[in-house]
Amino acid sequence: MKAHKISDTVFCVHADIETADLFEGIWPIPKGVSLNSYLVKGKKTALIDLVRDWSEAPKQLDAALASAGTGFDKVDYLILNHLEPDHTGWLREFRKINPQVEIISTIKGINLVKTFYKEETGLRAVKDGEKLDLGGVELTFFETPNIHWPETMMTWESASGTLFSCDAFGSFGALGERVFDDEFSPEEHAFYEKESLRYYANIVSSFSTFVERGIEKLSGLDIKCTAPGHGIVWRKNPRAIIERYLVYAGYSKSAPEKEIAVIWGSMYGNTKQGVDAVIRGIEAEGVRYSVHRVPDEDVSYSLADAFKSKALVLAMPTYEYAMFPPMAYVLDIFRRKHIFGKTVLRIGSWGWVGGAKKEYEAAIEALKWESLPSVEWAGAPTAQELATLEERARELARIVKA
Ligand code: FEO
Repeated sequence: MKAHKISDTVFCVHADIETADLFEGIWPIPKGVSLNSYLVKGKKTALIDLVRDWSEAPKQLDAALASAGTGFDKVDYLILNHLEPDHTGWLREFRKINPQVEIISTIKGINLVKTFYKEETGLRAVKDGEKLDLGGVELTFFETPNIHWPETMMTWESASGTLFSCDAFGSFGALGERVFDDEFSPEEHAFYEKESLRYYANIVSSFSTFVERGIEKLSGLDIKCTAPGHGIVWRKNPRAIIERYLVYAGYSKSAPEKEIAVIWGSMYGNTKQGVDAVIRGIEAEGVRYSVHRVPDEDVSYSLADAFKSKALVLAMPTYEYAMFPPMAYVLDIFRRKHIFGKTVLRIGSWGWVGGAKKEYEAAIEALKWESLPSVEWAGAPTAQELATLEERARELARIVKA
């Protein structure tokens, strides 16, 4: 990788992670993810955020620094906007190369440096609004807690107008040899937009209130470049990703898209017949929808579409007197990720007796969903039951359109 110049003194130095590993040990990243660090050069040199030893990220970062005429051993300050190990995991190895480097973070961040990495010296905790003079270049630190870890801060370089925004405004998806928004085609932007929604829904959605708070706090900055810890660096239209994150934050409350996410599982095809009828009903009303089968597809994807959609269809058979287990996992993730305020239709087949209903109702209690009357049937659905399913789906679609 090479360094990408943001200004005469500011560079993006990133590593692309392309691996079968899961992000955070949970979320698939089939198209990779970038770990973005930033180099700021005054008389002193600062590196903003590090990497973990993952997919040869340290080697990639080393090459990028070299292309900017520097190296790990030349860094005076390592600034850690937050401590999640995707940005810090290589810290101890880095310090072996450069024992003189001073590590800068918030008070909570420095505490995590101690607990995660057992480092005790060369640490400096900064307060909200505190500045660091690099000699001709000045950095300012702003605490933006809980986007998405409590110690999170953003770093600001006023001469170039660059906001180093940590995980806020990030996306899944490796970058390759380009990093700036004006270097990608509309088709590539469409891909990163989908991946930014999935990233937000997977990683940030529980913290939407704090996203809005952080954006409001920094609204007075004249941002000319939005430089997140993952994904595209926005220099042509630095507000685009900020505005998009505000839309995403709204999905947690009252402004979801007029779409339906159909999430279904089926053991032997009886529930699938019901899903087909539901889709016929949705299509008849002309409403946009997405379809996700569990457990075949990872919950990462249904979570993203459920997060943005006004309504959900949850289709599951009864399994051993309770919910189809993969759907129980989906609902647990939805609860943890605050998929609130949806209008929902639950359907499903049962074999011996029912049982999904009771567990389902307990699972969604905290989610503040409006539920249409469920449709359940014994074994294979009858023609009458299929007609009911189609009509109930049309009812749901009409609610979405309203
Ligand atoms: Fe990209 Fe929260 O780490």
